[in-house]
Amino acid sequence: VELYLDSADIEEILSLHAKVKLSGVTTNPTILAKSHCGVNHLLSTLNTQLESPSRFFVQTISATVEGIIAEAKKLHALPYNIVVKVPATEAGLAAIKTLKKDNIPILATAIYTTAQGLLAAHNGADYIAPYVNRIAQIGGDGIGVASKLQKLITNANLSCKILAASFKSVQQVVSVLEEGVKAITLPCDIMQAMYTHPAVNMAVEEFNEHWQSAFAEQLSYE
Ligand code: E4P
Repeated sequence: VELYLDSADIEEILSLHAKVKLSGVTTNPTILAKSHCGVNHLLSTLNTQLESPSRFFVQTISATVEGIIAEAKKLHALPYNIVVKVPATEAGLAAIKTLKKDNIPILATAIYTTAQGLLAAHNGADYIAPYVNRIAQIGGDGIGVASKLQKLITNANLSCKILAASFKSVQQVVSVLEEGVKAITLPCDIMQAMYTHPAVNMAVEEFNEHWQSAFAEQLSYE
């Protein structure tokens, strides 16, 4: 499974990188704006600190086909392992179709429906990102969309991979992985929540108490 952090917070990313094997980092314009972190600063810092090769996902902002293509080419020319995120709008689908002729790695983002995701995969996107929680927020079945897309991609033998995004609970993460999805991106708090169950510390404290009460300060196993 490819695990990514959906963040531009360098401190948090490096702290989690020490504990979890990451494939890289995903961003979107909102994440970058919130962190006040420029793409060049973020990528140059992380590229030296994360394991090599790490993959970085950066999204285009233009609304026109030509604009998206120009931005994607600029991002692709940067000296990092970048997958260009293109929102799968009408213009985005057209841009993806053209950009794949130049073999530029693409993730089609803002996937809200199975049909939309399938078209992006059909156009050659290397990844598609269904928005699991955002779909649920508007009354849809985010896990169902990810699950159907996984089946359709497998059945059609498309080389596209689902990189499921927009998670607000660990349960959503587990459910999506259960459906056979092989790549996910998580905000730092959800990644942390995957390994911080209160029962874990309680169990470890109890082991330590039992050890202490039997052997006091003697810390060796002799
Ligand atoms: C990924 O492509 C999206 O940018 C991101 O995961 C959206 O997450 P959000 O719904 O938490 O903003």
